Amino acid sequence: MIKISPLARPAIADIIPYEPGKPISEVQREYGLTDVIKLASNENPLGASPLALKAVREALDDINRYPDGGGYYLKQKLTQMLGVLPTQLVIGNGSAELVELVTEAFISEGDEAVIGRQAFFKYRIAVQIMNGVVAWAEMPDLNHDPDEMLSKVTDKTKVMFLPNPNNPTGTLMKREQVDYLMERLPDSVVIVFDEAYYDFRDSSIYPDTMKYLHDERNIIILRTFSKSYGLAGFRIGYAVTTEPIARALNCVREAFNVNNLALAAAEAALDDEEFLQASIKLNTEGKAYFYRELDRIGLEYVPTEANFILIKVPIPGRELFVKMLERGVVVRPVDGYGLPDYVRVSFGLPEENKRFFSAIEEVLDSKYESVKV
Ligand SMILES: Cc1ncc(COP(=O)(O)O)c(C=O)c1O
Repeated sequence: MIKISPLARPAIADIIPYEPGKPISEVQREYGLTDVIKLASNENPLGASPLALKAVREALDDINRYPDGGGYYLKQKLTQMLGVLPTQLVIGNGSAELVELVTEAFISEGDEAVIGRQAFFKYRIAVQIMNGVVAWAEMPDLNHDPDEMLSKVTDKTKVMFLPNPNNPTGTLMKREQVDYLMERLPDSVVIVFDEAYYDFRDSSIYPDTMKYLHDERNIIILRTFSKSYGLAGFRIGYAVTTEPIARALNCVREAFNVNNLALAAAEAALDDEEFLQASIKLNTEGKAYFYRELDRIGLEYVPTEANFILIKVPIPGRELFVKMLERGVVVRPVDGYGLPDYVRVSFGLPEENKRFFSAIEEVLDSKYESVKV
Protein backbone atom coordinates (compact mmCIF):
# COMPACT_ATOMS: atom_id res chain seq x y z
CA MET A 1 0.00 0.00 0.00
CA ILE A 2 1.26 3.49 -0.81
CA LYS A 3 2.18 5.55 2.29
CA ILE A 4 0.55 8.93 2.81
CA SER A 5 2.78 11.98 2.24
CA PRO A 6 4.42 13.04 5.56
CA LEU A 7 3.49 16.60 4.61
CA ALA A 8 -0.22 15.84 4.80
CA ARG A 9 -2.26 17.16 7.76
CA PRO A 10 -2.03 14.80 10.75
CA ALA A 11 -5.83 14.70 10.95
CA ILE A 12 -6.02 12.67 7.76
CA ALA A 13 -3.07 10.32 8.39
CA ASP A 14 -5.27 7.53 9.80
CA ILE A 15 -8.08 7.76 7.30
CA ILE A 16 -8.72 4.57 5.40
CA PRO A 17 -10.08 5.72 2.04
CA TYR A 18 -13.59 4.47 1.28
CA GLU A 19 -13.62 1.21 -0.66
CA PRO A 20 -16.17 1.68 -3.43
CA GLY A 21 -17.92 -1.23 -5.15
CA LYS A 22 -15.75 -2.71 -7.90
CA PRO A 23 -16.71 -1.35 -11.32
CA ILE A 24 -17.79 -3.98 -13.86
CA SER A 25 -14.94 -3.05 -16.25
CA GLU A 26 -12.34 -3.68 -13.53
CA VAL A 27 -13.73 -7.14 -12.73
CA GLN A 28 -13.81 -7.97 -16.45
CA ARG A 29 -10.14 -6.96 -16.77
CA GLU A 30 -8.93 -8.68 -13.60
CA TYR A 31 -10.80 -11.94 -14.03
CA GLY A 32 -10.87 -12.13 -17.84
CA LEU A 33 -14.67 -12.25 -17.78
CA THR A 34 -17.10 -10.67 -20.22
CA ASP A 35 -20.41 -11.25 -18.48
CA VAL A 36 -20.28 -9.50 -15.13
CA ILE A 37 -23.16 -8.22 -12.99
CA LYS A 38 -22.74 -5.64 -10.25
CA LEU A 39 -24.86 -5.88 -7.12
CA ALA A 40 -22.39 -3.92 -5.03
CA SER A 41 -23.27 -0.23 -4.96
CA ASN A 42 -27.03 0.00 -4.38
CA GLU A 43 -27.53 1.41 -7.86
CA ASN A 44 -30.74 1.36 -9.85
CA PRO A 45 -30.77 -1.82 -11.97
CA LEU A 46 -33.38 -0.33 -14.34
CA GLY A 47 -30.92 2.31 -15.56
CA ALA A 48 -31.75 6.01 -15.43
CA SER A 49 -34.98 7.93 -15.77
CA PRO A 50 -35.58 8.31 -19.56
CA LEU A 51 -36.90 11.85 -19.04
CA ALA A 52 -33.65 12.73 -17.27
CA LEU A 53 -31.57 11.34 -20.12
CA LYS A 54 -33.53 13.33 -22.68
CA ALA A 55 -32.99 16.53 -20.69
CA VAL A 56 -29.27 15.80 -20.46
CA ARG A 57 -28.94 15.48 -24.23
CA GLU A 58 -30.53 18.90 -24.61
CA ALA A 59 -28.42 20.43 -21.83
CA LEU A 60 -25.25 19.31 -23.63
CA ASP A 61 -25.68 22.15 -26.09
CA ASP A 62 -24.91 24.65 -23.30
CA ILE A 63 -21.97 22.82 -21.82
CA ASN A 64 -19.61 25.74 -22.58
CA ARG A 65 -21.46 27.67 -19.84
CA TYR A 66 -20.88 27.40 -16.11
CA PRO A 67 -23.77 25.75 -14.29
CA ASP A 68 -26.40 27.72 -12.40
CA GLY A 69 -24.65 27.67 -9.03
CA GLY A 70 -27.94 28.39 -7.26
CA GLY A 71 -29.76 25.50 -8.99
CA TYR A 72 -32.76 27.80 -9.50
CA TYR A 73 -35.01 25.54 -11.58
CA LEU A 74 -34.34 22.39 -9.60
CA LYS A 75 -35.01 24.27 -6.39
CA GLN A 76 -38.28 25.59 -7.79
CA LYS A 77 -39.45 22.02 -8.36
CA LEU A 78 -38.23 20.78 -4.99
CA THR A 79 -39.87 23.74 -3.29
CA GLN A 80 -43.25 22.76 -4.72
CA MET A 81 -42.74 19.11 -3.95
CA LEU A 82 -41.56 19.58 -0.36
CA GLY A 83 -43.40 22.74 0.72
CA VAL A 84 -40.22 24.56 1.79
CA LEU A 85 -38.50 27.77 0.66
CA PRO A 86 -35.72 27.68 -1.95
CA THR A 87 -33.49 29.19 0.73
CA GLN A 88 -33.94 26.00 2.76
CA LEU A 89 -32.38 23.88 0.01
CA VAL A 90 -28.73 23.14 -0.78
CA ILE A 91 -27.83 21.05 -3.83
CA GLY A 92 -24.79 18.83 -3.61
CA ASN A 93 -22.48 16.79 -5.81
CA GLY A 94 -24.19 13.69 -4.53
CA SER A 95 -25.50 13.64 -0.99
CA ALA A 96 -22.00 12.47 -0.05
CA GLU A 97 -20.69 15.96 -0.74
CA LEU A 98 -23.38 17.40 1.50
CA VAL A 99 -22.05 15.25 4.37
CA GLU A 100 -18.70 16.98 3.93
CA LEU A 101 -20.33 20.40 3.80
CA VAL A 102 -22.02 19.60 7.12
CA THR A 103 -18.75 18.75 8.86
CA GLU A 104 -16.93 21.68 7.25
CA ALA A 105 -19.64 24.00 8.48
CA PHE A 106 -20.18 22.60 11.98
CA ILE A 107 -17.13 20.65 13.20
CA SER A 108 -14.07 22.44 14.58
CA GLU A 109 -11.05 20.65 16.04
CA GLY A 110 -12.08 18.52 19.02
CA ASP A 111 -15.82 18.82 18.39
CA GLU A 112 -17.76 15.60 18.58
CA ALA A 113 -20.13 13.87 16.19
CA VAL A 114 -22.33 10.96 17.25
CA ILE A 115 -22.23 8.14 14.71
CA GLY A 116 -23.56 4.57 14.87
CA ARG A 117 -20.88 1.89 14.94
CA GLN A 118 -22.10 0.31 11.70
CA ALA A 119 -23.36 3.55 10.13
CA PHE A 120 -22.52 4.57 6.56
CA PHE A 121 -18.74 5.03 6.22
CA LYS A 122 -18.76 8.55 4.83
CA TYR A 123 -19.57 10.31 8.11
CA ARG A 124 -16.53 9.16 10.05
CA ILE A 125 -14.18 10.26 7.27
CA ALA A 126 -15.82 13.68 6.99
CA VAL A 127 -15.49 14.18 10.77
CA GLN A 128 -11.86 13.04 10.81
CA ILE A 129 -10.95 15.42 7.98
CA MET A 130 -12.10 18.30 10.17
CA ASN A 131 -10.09 17.08 13.18
CA GLY A 132 -13.31 16.19 14.92
CA VAL A 133 -13.91 13.29 17.28
CA VAL A 134 -16.32 10.45 16.56
CA ALA A 135 -18.47 9.42 19.52
CA TRP A 136 -19.45 5.88 18.57
CA ALA A 137 -22.95 4.73 19.43
CA GLU A 138 -23.31 0.96 19.56
CA MET A 139 -25.97 -0.57 17.33
CA PRO A 140 -27.64 -3.48 19.11
CA ASP A 141 -28.84 -6.00 16.48
CA LEU A 142 -27.39 -3.60 13.90
CA ASN A 143 -30.09 -1.00 14.64
CA HIS A 144 -29.53 2.62 15.61
CA ASP A 145 -30.78 2.90 19.18
CA PRO A 146 -32.14 6.29 20.34
CA ASP A 147 -31.09 5.91 23.99
CA GLU A 148 -27.60 4.79 23.03
CA MET A 149 -27.22 7.73 20.64
CA LEU A 150 -28.52 10.22 23.22
CA SER A 151 -26.12 8.80 25.80
CA LYS A 152 -23.18 9.87 23.59
CA VAL A 153 -24.22 13.52 23.51
CA THR A 154 -21.91 15.81 25.52
CA ASP A 155 -21.42 19.57 25.59
CA LYS A 156 -18.90 19.08 22.76
CA THR A 157 -21.38 17.34 20.44
CA LYS A 158 -22.10 19.38 17.35
CA VAL A 159 -23.60 16.86 14.95
CA MET A 160 -25.46 13.54 15.06
CA PHE A 161 -25.71 11.43 11.90
CA LEU A 162 -28.68 9.15 11.40
CA PRO A 163 -28.80 7.29 8.08
CA ASN A 164 -32.38 6.07 7.81
CA PRO A 165 -32.39 3.38 6.60
CA ASN A 166 -28.75 2.76 7.24
CA ASN A 167 -26.22 1.48 4.74
CA PRO A 168 -24.94 -1.30 4.98
CA THR A 169 -27.44 -2.76 7.48
CA GLY A 170 -30.70 -1.68 5.77
CA THR A 171 -32.19 -1.05 9.21
CA LEU A 172 -34.58 1.80 9.98
CA MET A 173 -35.14 3.85 13.10
CA LYS A 174 -38.93 3.90 13.13
CA ARG A 175 -41.17 6.94 13.53
CA GLU A 176 -41.89 6.57 17.26
CA GLN A 177 -38.21 6.01 18.02
CA VAL A 178 -37.23 9.11 16.06
CA ASP A 179 -39.93 11.10 17.86
CA TYR A 180 -38.52 9.86 21.15
CA LEU A 181 -35.00 10.85 20.10
CA MET A 182 -36.08 14.30 18.95
CA GLU A 183 -37.95 14.97 22.20
CA ARG A 184 -34.69 14.51 24.08
CA LEU A 185 -32.03 15.82 21.70
CA PRO A 186 -30.76 19.27 22.73
CA ASP A 187 -30.98 22.00 20.11
CA SER A 188 -27.23 22.53 20.39
CA VAL A 189 -26.84 19.42 18.20
CA VAL A 190 -27.51 19.46 14.46
CA ILE A 191 -29.05 16.15 13.49
CA VAL A 192 -28.56 14.85 9.95
CA PHE A 193 -31.23 12.46 8.69
CA ASP A 194 -29.63 10.80 5.69
CA GLU A 195 -32.61 9.61 3.66
CA ALA A 196 -30.79 8.26 0.61
CA TYR A 197 -33.30 5.39 0.32
CA TYR A 198 -36.38 7.49 1.13
CA ASP A 199 -38.32 6.50 -2.00
CA PHE A 200 -38.23 2.83 -1.02
CA ARG A 201 -39.81 3.53 2.36
CA ASP A 202 -42.76 1.84 4.01
CA SER A 203 -44.78 4.93 4.89
CA SER A 204 -46.53 3.19 7.76
CA ILE A 205 -43.31 3.17 9.83
CA TYR A 206 -41.12 5.83 8.20
CA PRO A 207 -40.45 8.93 10.33
CA ASP A 208 -41.89 12.28 9.30
CA THR A 209 -38.69 14.31 9.52
CA MET A 210 -40.15 17.28 7.63
CA LYS A 211 -42.31 17.86 10.69
CA TYR A 212 -39.20 18.77 12.73
CA LEU A 213 -38.20 21.26 10.09
CA HIS A 214 -41.56 22.96 10.36
CA ASP A 215 -40.92 23.11 14.13
CA GLU A 216 -37.60 24.86 13.28
CA ARG A 217 -35.48 22.17 14.86
CA ASN A 218 -31.81 22.04 13.86
CA ILE A 219 -32.14 19.25 11.37
CA ILE A 220 -30.75 18.50 7.92
CA ILE A 221 -32.51 16.00 5.67
CA LEU A 222 -30.33 14.56 2.90
CA ARG A 223 -31.83 12.95 -0.18
CA THR A 224 -30.28 11.78 -3.43
CA PHE A 225 -31.07 11.17 -7.08
CA SER A 226 -28.58 8.29 -7.15
CA LYS A 227 -30.91 5.50 -6.14
CA SER A 228 -34.59 5.69 -7.10
CA TYR A 229 -33.94 7.92 -10.15
CA GLY A 230 -30.87 6.02 -11.32
CA LEU A 231 -28.60 9.08 -11.57
CA ALA A 232 -25.65 7.87 -9.45
CA GLY A 233 -23.10 8.74 -12.14
CA PHE A 234 -24.24 12.36 -12.31
CA ARG A 235 -23.61 12.93 -8.60
CA ILE A 236 -26.54 14.97 -7.38
CA GLY A 237 -28.44 15.13 -4.12
CA TYR A 238 -29.92 17.81 -1.90
CA ALA A 239 -30.26 18.96 1.69
CA VAL A 240 -33.50 20.34 3.14
CA THR A 241 -32.89 22.32 6.30
CA THR A 242 -33.52 25.60 8.09
CA GLU A 243 -32.54 28.81 6.33
CA PRO A 244 -29.66 29.59 8.74
CA ILE A 245 -28.22 26.07 8.38
CA ALA A 246 -28.57 26.25 4.58
CA ARG A 247 -26.68 29.53 4.75
CA ALA A 248 -23.88 27.84 6.69
CA LEU A 249 -23.66 25.00 4.15
CA ASN A 250 -23.56 27.50 1.29
CA CYS A 251 -20.62 29.27 2.92
CA VAL A 252 -18.43 26.18 2.48
CA ARG A 253 -19.92 24.97 -0.81
CA GLU A 254 -17.90 25.38 -3.99
CA ALA A 255 -19.86 27.84 -6.14
CA PHE A 256 -20.33 25.45 -9.10
CA ASN A 257 -20.37 22.19 -7.18
CA VAL A 258 -23.06 20.58 -9.32
CA ASN A 259 -22.68 20.42 -13.09
CA ASN A 260 -25.18 21.51 -15.78
CA LEU A 261 -26.02 17.99 -16.88
CA ALA A 262 -26.72 16.74 -13.37
CA LEU A 263 -28.99 19.72 -12.68
CA ALA A 264 -30.92 19.11 -15.90
CA ALA A 265 -31.16 15.39 -15.19
CA ALA A 266 -32.45 15.84 -11.65
CA GLU A 267 -34.98 18.46 -12.63
CA ALA A 268 -36.44 16.24 -15.35
CA ALA A 269 -36.28 13.12 -13.18
CA LEU A 270 -38.67 14.68 -10.68
CA ASP A 271 -41.35 14.61 -13.42
CA ASP A 272 -40.71 10.96 -14.16
CA GLU A 273 -43.28 9.38 -11.88
CA GLU A 274 -43.50 6.36 -14.16
CA PHE A 275 -39.80 5.55 -13.78
CA LEU A 276 -39.91 6.17 -10.04
CA GLN A 277 -42.85 3.81 -9.59
CA ALA A 278 -41.21 1.16 -11.78
CA SER A 279 -38.04 1.39 -9.64
CA ILE A 280 -40.00 1.03 -6.43
CA LYS A 281 -41.97 -1.93 -7.78
CA LEU A 282 -38.84 -3.69 -8.99
CA ASN A 283 -37.26 -3.18 -5.60
CA THR A 284 -40.27 -4.55 -3.74
CA GLU A 285 -40.27 -7.63 -5.96
CA GLY A 286 -36.49 -8.06 -5.65
CA LYS A 287 -36.71 -7.89 -1.88
CA ALA A 288 -39.51 -10.50 -1.75
CA TYR A 289 -37.48 -12.78 -4.03
CA PHE A 290 -34.36 -12.42 -1.87
CA TYR A 291 -36.29 -13.16 1.33
CA ARG A 292 -37.82 -16.27 -0.26
CA GLU A 293 -34.57 -17.58 -1.69
CA LEU A 294 -32.51 -16.82 1.43
CA ASP A 295 -35.07 -18.68 3.53
CA ARG A 296 -34.94 -21.56 1.06
CA ILE A 297 -31.15 -21.91 1.18
CA GLY A 298 -31.09 -21.24 4.92
CA LEU A 299 -29.01 -18.06 5.08
CA GLU A 300 -29.66 -15.50 7.80
CA TYR A 301 -30.24 -11.90 6.77
CA VAL A 302 -31.11 -8.54 8.26
CA PRO A 303 -34.62 -7.43 7.20
CA THR A 304 -34.12 -4.38 5.03
CA GLU A 305 -35.89 -1.09 4.29
CA ALA A 306 -33.61 -0.23 1.36
CA ASN A 307 -32.59 -1.56 -2.08
CA PHE A 308 -29.98 -3.95 -0.71
CA ILE A 309 -29.68 -6.63 1.94
CA LEU A 310 -27.08 -7.67 4.48
CA ILE A 311 -26.61 -11.43 4.42
CA LYS A 312 -24.79 -13.54 7.00
CA VAL A 313 -22.58 -16.09 5.26
CA PRO A 314 -20.91 -19.26 6.57
CA ILE A 315 -17.47 -18.33 5.16
CA PRO A 316 -15.65 -15.01 5.63
CA GLY A 317 -17.54 -12.36 3.68
CA ARG A 318 -14.36 -11.28 1.88
CA GLU A 319 -13.72 -14.84 0.74
CA LEU A 320 -17.25 -15.11 -0.56
CA PHE A 321 -16.79 -11.76 -2.32
CA VAL A 322 -13.75 -13.15 -4.20
CA LYS A 323 -15.46 -16.44 -5.06
CA MET A 324 -18.47 -14.54 -6.38
CA LEU A 325 -16.17 -12.26 -8.42
CA GLU A 326 -14.71 -15.35 -10.07
CA ARG A 327 -18.27 -16.16 -11.14
CA GLY A 328 -18.84 -12.65 -12.47
CA VAL A 329 -21.05 -11.44 -9.62
CA VAL A 330 -19.87 -8.36 -7.71
CA VAL A 331 -21.16 -8.07 -4.13
CA ARG A 332 -19.84 -6.00 -1.25
CA PRO A 333 -17.71 -7.23 1.64
CA VAL A 334 -18.43 -5.28 4.82
CA ASP A 335 -15.53 -6.25 7.09
CA GLY A 336 -14.62 -2.54 7.19
CA TYR A 337 -17.76 -2.08 9.29
CA GLY A 338 -16.73 -4.81 11.72
CA LEU A 339 -19.01 -7.30 9.94
CA PRO A 340 -16.60 -9.95 8.62
CA ASP A 341 -19.30 -12.63 8.38
CA TYR A 342 -21.60 -10.67 6.13
CA VAL A 343 -21.90 -9.43 2.58
CA ARG A 344 -24.13 -6.66 1.31
CA VAL A 345 -26.01 -7.34 -1.90
CA SER A 346 -28.04 -4.84 -3.93
CA PHE A 347 -31.25 -6.04 -5.53
CA GLY A 348 -30.83 -6.31 -9.30
CA LEU A 349 -33.00 -7.20 -12.26
CA PRO A 350 -34.84 -10.53 -11.87
CA GLU A 351 -32.28 -12.37 -14.03
CA GLU A 352 -29.41 -10.83 -12.04
CA ASN A 353 -30.99 -11.88 -8.76
CA LYS A 354 -31.37 -15.40 -10.09
CA ARG A 355 -27.75 -15.43 -11.16
CA PHE A 356 -26.70 -14.27 -7.70
CA PHE A 357 -28.43 -17.24 -6.12
CA SER A 358 -27.04 -19.81 -8.52
CA ALA A 359 -23.53 -18.41 -7.93
CA ILE A 360 -23.81 -18.29 -4.13
CA GLU A 361 -25.30 -21.77 -3.99
CA GLU A 362 -22.43 -23.05 -6.12
CA VAL A 363 -19.87 -21.37 -3.82
CA LEU A 364 -21.50 -22.65 -0.64
CA ASP A 365 -22.08 -26.16 -2.04
CA SER A 366 -18.40 -26.42 -2.95
CA LYS A 367 -17.56 -25.35 0.60
CA TYR A 368 -19.66 -28.15 2.05
CA GLU A 369 -18.20 -30.61 -0.50
CA SER A 370 -14.67 -29.71 0.63
CA VAL A 371 -15.70 -30.15 4.30
CA LYS A 372 -17.03 -33.65 3.52
CA VAL A 373 -13.78 -34.77 1.83
C1 LIG B 1 -26.83 6.15 3.49
C2 LIG B 1 -26.20 6.76 2.30
N1 LIG B 1 -26.01 8.08 2.26
C3 LIG B 1 -25.44 8.69 1.21
C4 LIG B 1 -25.03 7.97 0.11
C5 LIG B 1 -24.35 8.69 -0.98
O1 LIG B 1 -25.20 8.90 -2.04
P1 LIG B 1 -24.84 9.91 -3.19
O2 LIG B 1 -24.71 9.10 -4.42
O3 LIG B 1 -26.01 10.85 -3.25
O4 LIG B 1 -23.59 10.62 -2.84
C6 LIG B 1 -25.19 6.60 0.10
C7 LIG B 1 -24.71 5.83 -1.05
O5 LIG B 1 -24.69 4.65 -1.14
C8 LIG B 1 -25.78 5.98 1.22
O6 LIG B 1 -25.94 4.66 1.27
